Amino acid sequence: MVALGVLTAGAITLPLVAALQSHIALDLPTKHFIQRQYTPPIDRAEAVIDTFRVSWDGYYKYAFPHDELKPVTNGFSDSRNGWGASTVDALSTALIMGQKDIVNQIITYIPHINWSQTNISVSLFETTIRYLGGMLSGYDLLSGPLADLADNQADVDALLTQSINLANNLSYAFETPSGVPWNNLFFNNRSNDGSPNGLATVGTLILEWTRLADLSGNSTYISLVNKAESYLLSPSPASSEPFPGLLGMNISPENGTFLDAVGGWIGGADSFYEYLIKMYIYDPSRYAALKDRWIVAADSTIKYLTSHPAPRPDLTFVAQFNGTTLDLTSQHLACFDGGNFILAGQVLGEEKYIAYGLDLVNGCHDTYTSTATHIGPEEFSWDPSSVPANQSAFFNKTGFYITSPQYVLRPEVIESYYYAYRATSDTKYQDWAWDAFVAINATTRVGSGYSSINDVNVVGGGGWTDFQESFWFAEVLKYSFLIQSDQGDEWQVGRGGRDGWVFNTEAHPVRVVGG
Ligand SMILES: *[C@@H]1O[C@H](CO)[C@@H](O)[C@H](O)[C@H]1NC(C)=O
Ligand SMILES: *[C@@H]1O[C@H](CO)[C@@H](O)[C@H](O)[C@H]1NC(C)=O
Ligand SMILES: *[C@@H]1O[C@H](CO)[C@@H](O)[C@H](O)[C@H]1NC(C)=O
Ligand SMILES: *[C@@H]1O[C@H](CO)[C@@H](O)[C@H](O)[C@H]1NC(C)=O
Ligand SMILES: *[C@@H]1O[C@H](CO)[C@@H](O)[C@H](O)[C@H]1NC(C)=O
Ligand SMILES: *[C@@H]1O[C@H](CO)[C@@H](O)[C@H](O)[C@H]1NC(C)=O
Ligand SMILES: *[C@@H]1O[C@H](CO)[C@@H](O)[C@H](O)[C@H]1NC(C)=O
Ligand SMILES: *[C@@H]1O[C@H](CO)[C@@H](O)[C@H](O)[C@H]1NC(C)=O
Ligand SMILES: *[C@@H]1O[C@H](CO)[C@@H](O)[C@H](O)[C@H]1NC(C)=O
Ligand SMILES: *[C@@H]1O[C@H](CO)[C@@H](O)[C@H](O)[C@H]1NC(C)=O
Repeated sequence: MVALGVLTAGAITLPLVAALQSHIALDLPTKHFIQRQYTPPIDRAEAVIDTFRVSWDGYYKYAFPHDELKPVTNGFSDSRNGWGASTVDALSTALIMGQKDIVNQIITYIPHINWSQTNISVSLFETTIRYLGGMLSGYDLLSGPLADLADNQADVDALLTQSINLANNLSYAFETPSGVPWNNLFFNNRSNDGSPNGLATVGTLILEWTRLADLSGNSTYISLVNKAESYLLSPSPASSEPFPGLLGMNISPENGTFLDAVGGWIGGADSFYEYLIKMYIYDPSRYAALKDRWIVAADSTIKYLTSHPAPRPDLTFVAQFNGTTLDLTSQHLACFDGGNFILAGQVLGEEKYIAYGLDLVNGCHDTYTSTATHIGPEEFSWDPSSVPANQSAFFNKTGFYITSPQYVLRPEVIESYYYAYRATSDTKYQDWAWDAFVAINATTRVGSGYSSINDVNVVGGGGWTDFQESFWFAEVLKYSFLIQSDQGDEWQVGRGGRDGWVFNTEAHPVRVVGG
């Protein structure tokens, strides 16, 4: 398999070609041997940097410091409170790519953000993973291995000060009867929209707020998120945990109870599970209990949610559930699951999680290679009882059919290739990531940047939505780069021994305790 991956990619070394051509019985070299010999036809890491710079230049020219570029019309939008979401989300990627000019454009801006000023509701979750995560990661990288990229130390210090300011503006969200926060906040009158919170939106705060507490010395941030997390670790009522460790998605801030038993590794639930193991990586001494809950959830997933499409039993997908009834549908968002299983398998020394994760990565790869654009859809299904007639042939061949055809510049499939490559050193995953990157570049590149598209199964993508997501900078371009770039960099995962960095769900790496 390793040799095939190399052969399809193009350039291979002459002795290997000669051996294959002359049908000499080949003593297959180890994958490490091949890895050293193999040189991609173009410098892939440089090509990803070029794409980052094209995207940034368009954004900087037409949209900075607004949240997003509208690349078709050279306009801007402010979907994340107008604080400069793309600017902050781009920081850790610019750092890891060594783009000093862009790093300093970003860090000279951040001290000027006014977190009190916004005229739309503030999402505690989105603000935490993008802005807080982006600034804390920038602070960790610029206080450590990349200190030489900052022109002015005061801008580095401001990353922490602004993180504290932001958290203090947000912290009233936790003033609820239960301690489960509100998610949708109105800063103008310190109120909220009164709607229930969600599993992912409650369970994806703990890494960023704990890092902030550890860096600032203010342990209140930890108390707030630990209290909220406690309701997820001991869920009530019992019916909201239909399989051990697998939970419903809506939670009442009034009393901390779950309001349903619908879930999976899908959007709305996903990063709760992701952070259970990542907190253990962050600090194994404080978070062993979360690791134990990850194991319970993972074992239930393997046992109860594993699903093989009828026409393609070779593929593995993870089903959703409503109570104990399975729903054979999934999402691009859920494709982070393979990477998360692989990461956990490496950290726990459990081969079974790595093997299962690689199976999931393979299934998500199929959702990419099967479409007209070679990009996977937003949502898909393999429920044989409701195949649309005009996708029956497609389903029989590929094992899934498309239920939502957009691609909104999401990272999860490439993210999981990254973890797969780090765990196996199999260059096949670098090739898969490159193929995805080339396909995304070919279809979403438009005007002054990159845009979400309407339909992955139409050549050309069926039109652009004129929107360049901030996580294009934070995630897609970062994982596309990490998998092709210097594998010895200290922030790379799985280097042997304990990881020194852990990536938040927006792909911002933060330094682990003692890392
Ligand atoms: C909110 O953030 C601003 C800076 O943007 C800061 O001046 C203010 O003190 C913060 N508010 C709170 C309640 O900490
Ligand atoms: C930040 O915005 C708030 C709300 O609009 C305003 O009252 C405050 O004066 C602003 N702070 C600065 C430093 O501009
Ligand atoms: C918020 O303010 C911006 C510009 O300051 C404006 O374009 C936008 O329409 C406003 N949104 C709302 C919901 O008031
Ligand atoms: C610690 O953080 C809390 C929550 O935002 C805040 O209310 C408190 O003032 C902070 N304490 C210090 C000493 O800054
Ligand atoms: C607070 O402000 C928001 C947005 O302006 C508004 O929708 C909401 O009704 C207000 N809530 C209260 C309690 O005043
Ligand atoms: C908890 O609060 C929700 C409303 O947020 C309500 O629907 C539910 O019945 C309450 N559950 C309990 C056990 O009080
Ligand atoms: C889950 O099942 C319950 C009870 O059977 C039903 O009322 C609810 O609509 C279902 N939820 C979803 C999201 O399918
Ligand atoms: C399949 O049919 C549905 C309506 O039944 C239509 O909306 C969709 O565009 C068709 N898809 C293809 C690929 O022809
Ligand atoms: C797909 O397979 C099913 C089950 O074998 C079969 O009934 C159906 O006709 C096939 N569809 C097409 C378009 O060949
Ligand atoms: C990306 O797309 C641009 C514009 O179509 C093209 O010039 C460039 O070669 C592409 N890059 C890669 C790596 O495919």
